[in-house]
Amino acid sequence: MYTTRNILFGLLAASTGVYAADAASDVTQLNKDTFDDFVKGNDLVLAEFFAPWCGHCKALAPEYEEAATTLKEKSIKLAKVDCTEESELCQTYGVEGYPTLKIFRGLDNITPYTGQRKAAAITSYMIKQSLPAVSLLTSETLEDFKTADKVVLVAFIDASDKASNETYTKVAEKYRDSYLFGATNDAALAEAEGVKAPAVVLYKQFDEGKATFTEKFDEEAIEKFAKVASTPLIGEVGPDTYSGYMSAGIPLAYIFSETAEERKELGDALKPIAEKYRGKINFATIDAQAFGAHANNLNLKADKFPAFAIQETVKNQKYPFDQEKEITYETISSFVDDFSAGKIEPSLKSEPIPEKQEGPVTVVVGKTYEDIVLDDSKDVLIEFYAPWCGHCKALAPKYEDLASLYSKSEFKDKVVIAKVDATANDVPDEIQGFPTIKLYPAGAKDKPVTYSGSRTVEDLIEFVKENGKYKAEVSEKQEEETPVAPAATESKSTSSEAAESTHDEL
Ligand SMILES: *[C@@H]1O[C@H](CO)[C@@H](O)[C@H](O)[C@H]1NC(C)=O
Repeated sequence: MYTTRNILFGLLAASTGVYAADAASDVTQLNKDTFDDFVKGNDLVLAEFFAPWCGHCKALAPEYEEAATTLKEKSIKLAKVDCTEESELCQTYGVEGYPTLKIFRGLDNITPYTGQRKAAAITSYMIKQSLPAVSLLTSETLEDFKTADKVVLVAFIDASDKASNETYTKVAEKYRDSYLFGATNDAALAEAEGVKAPAVVLYKQFDEGKATFTEKFDEEAIEKFAKVASTPLIGEVGPDTYSGYMSAGIPLAYIFSETAEERKELGDALKPIAEKYRGKINFATIDAQAFGAHANNLNLKADKFPAFAIQETVKNQKYPFDQEKEITYETISSFVDDFSAGKIEPSLKSEPIPEKQEGPVTVVVGKTYEDIVLDDSKDVLIEFYAPWCGHCKALAPKYEDLASLYSKSEFKDKVVIAKVDATANDVPDEIQGFPTIKLYPAGAKDKPVTYSGSRTVEDLIEFVKENGKYKAEVSEKQEEETPVAPAATESKSTSSEAAESTHDEL
């Protein structure tokens, strides 16, 4: 009796529990037994690999739930996997940090989710993923499509023009994560829009509302057009837009200010300059209250706003505008003109040049980077470190040993083992995490090789030998190396709790 009752009670409780979880959440939690079937059974699945203790995962949870509920009606499924319980499953999919989000179209077609971790962003990103790369439009659907996203592109193509169709489709497939793409071959629609096929019209919910591309269809030209026309004349730098600006291939001019009113005021005042340099220099305001520390990265003082600076994003050079001067249309106009004419020297953050090198590791600073690292006659191994980085500290004694071995060998004039504090010195390299180790081979300074092996003296020697011009091999005297765990890099996502960021991340 008792037993039966207990079992029944237990079953009821269990089923209630399951029911409650289902009712409360549209996110399906998966494990190794359910994962494959779920992915195979749904055309489009976004899966989050998480750990319960991870702060970013906790912040994502309510956003993820909200997106799951919105996307339910579109039959786009959101799932999650707890990697502390399903380590094998997470390993299978190469999960290295939390949270990791991946898009599954079956088990073989997997792409990383690269959008923001907010409900609206996840929703719009996944809807784009669910549509064909190009939506075919008619007179009934064109109007709605124009405002379906902040930026949409519509191609007007003759039905017989296969080449233009193909070119446009290729661009769409490549950029489907960034924009919505539509197309029509209805000549009447082209005429109503005032264009002659083939043409692309980009509709945007800001600035002048639309822009038109009427050149010959060419992938690169359309890409460039989309990039330029979709960037607001005076945009805003923030976590959502920063990487776009950094990868735009043109300089970014920052307008730092602590208040929204002043950002608007300055934006309006500088708009004609942004217009003049459209497609050549991006202009954006940045909230100095939230992201004031970024001013330091541009070699501005981070306690005096408003401020203005230009960043050359390809070579990562900084051109801070004198903070003692007032920011007006006139002053900035002539500053930007001078910058554009190559009349301004980039500012270079650098520690003082060391009077002499104390240890076996050559200390590089901003001002000596070119002379030492780019010395074409030498293989230069350089470590980019941050003083606060734990992995860097752990590496230090081994790195000294390595340098010492080379400095005592026949290769002492051919191989340089160097380091630079990348938080105190400007370096042209883009550093994703600390430590980053690169070899600049003699005679091939334009082709540095990034080290990704384990951080042992032995493996580093092998790396210098493999990739350097001189194939320089030295041998370790004693086998004192203890095996280490696979090298981990302190990236922003794992060290952000400590409020530390690499020098050019936002
Ligand atoms: C482009 O080509 C595809 C495949 O042939 C076709 O389905 C589509 O209608 C074409 N688009 C236009 C705008 O003609």
